[in-house]
Amino acid sequence: MVLGSGFGGYSLIRHLRRAALEITLVSPRNYFLFTPLLPSAVSGSVEFRSILEPVRRRQRHVRLLEAAALGVDFERRSVRCRSAVGAEEFDLAYDTLVVAIGAAVADYGVSGAARFALPLASVEDGRALRRAVLERFAGADLPGLPLAEVERRLRFVVVGGGPTGVEVAAEIQDLLRGELARSFPALAPVARVLLVEAGERLLSGFGEALSDYTRRVFQRSGIEVRTGSAVSRVEAAEIFFADGRTLRYGLAIWAGGNAPLPLVENLGLETKPDGRIVVDRYLRVPARAGVYALGDCAACGEPPLPATAQVAQQQGRYLADVLGSKREMRPFGYRRMGMLAYIGAGRALADLPHVQWSGRSAWLFWRSVYLTRLVSPANKVKVLFDWVKARLFGRDLSRF
Ligand code: NAI
Repeated sequence: MVLGSGFGGYSLIRHLRRAALEITLVSPRNYFLFTPLLPSAVSGSVEFRSILEPVRRRQRHVRLLEAAALGVDFERRSVRCRSAVGAEEFDLAYDTLVVAIGAAVADYGVSGAARFALPLASVEDGRALRRAVLERFAGADLPGLPLAEVERRLRFVVVGGGPTGVEVAAEIQDLLRGELARSFPALAPVARVLLVEAGERLLSGFGEALSDYTRRVFQRSGIEVRTGSAVSRVEAAEIFFADGRTLRYGLAIWAGGNAPLPLVENLGLETKPDGRIVVDRYLRVPARAGVYALGDCAACGEPPLPATAQVAQQQGRYLADVLGSKREMRPFGYRRMGMLAYIGAGRALADLPHVQWSGRSAWLFWRSVYLTRLVSPANKVKVLFDWVKARLFGRDLSRF
């Protein structure tokens, strides 16, 4: 039984296709979401449906139960579940259990962050964020508003200068500079995207030269970057910083990093200080026979591998080999492929094992890599068409 249909769980079930196993996937979502293109769906460069893979259509060798796991009884080898539709509870027995449930968005106890700032982790988040951006423009385009209030309503503050925050800020700025500037010519020059980061530099996981380059590109395209700015509280229209400064905003977006999901805490397994489940080099959970964990919810190796899509994907594939064959297996070996990030204005970063580069050619590389990584041929064609459509006719600004 596999819990979770994210990068790890989906990669596992795809690669278990040829194994003669009875596979049950428990997930409240009946699709796999290609999260690297989620920020592009917020701006409308691609459609949400183009980056979703319906599990039932593509993975017919798997029994999908659309439910959330609530807890596991390791003695009785059963999982308590609640159905995604109807909230009915039931138990499900397993022989082998793979926990691949991902992570939640971390707010580090910052009061008001979860309530007032929008996250970007799911399709629902993406749609809400896209709608909120368009709503701010509709709400600022009213007669008689003082300029200071228009400025506040159109101040988009992204908290967190990791890859998520950078890509979201970049995509929103692209929209401001592009279609929104054409549709709201008087308002767009007033709108501002601000990226605030507690640390001293953006993208601490990338090389320093690439962080500096991102800052310069952001400066040129009009995104204001504030590093060394830890947010300590968020209220309905105002952000408070640890050093006492405040900032009034129209829309706050929270990209502060990953935290364990409540289910991981409920399992009672050994965890690292960051809350991830400790697993050995074979992705086994110690002292729990037949239980594995992988992806963002698991900590493998010392220091633990990063919580990224490519780690989860490689672990899913590795575990499929382990479970699908009787051969003696080698421990999991991670192959670092490098990281890519879109930084707006048709530019990207490529931080690869032997080379780092940035700019337009990196952007073309970014697009070609993601196009090849999208799982199904159908989605590859859809995303390609979306990019061509956006280029020819502009991104759609319908607010629904
Ligand atoms: P992250 O953990 O990489 O970045 C979060 C940032 O928010 C940190 O720089 C942190 O200092 C900052 N932060 C946290 N609390 C704050 C506060 N109160 N005030 C101001 N700043 C605050 O999280 P992210 O970007 O969501 O990424 C999560 C994981 O997924 C990472 O491992 C990342 O590498 C990976 N990822 C990779 C992508 C890519 O390679 N293109 C895209 C998206 C995620």
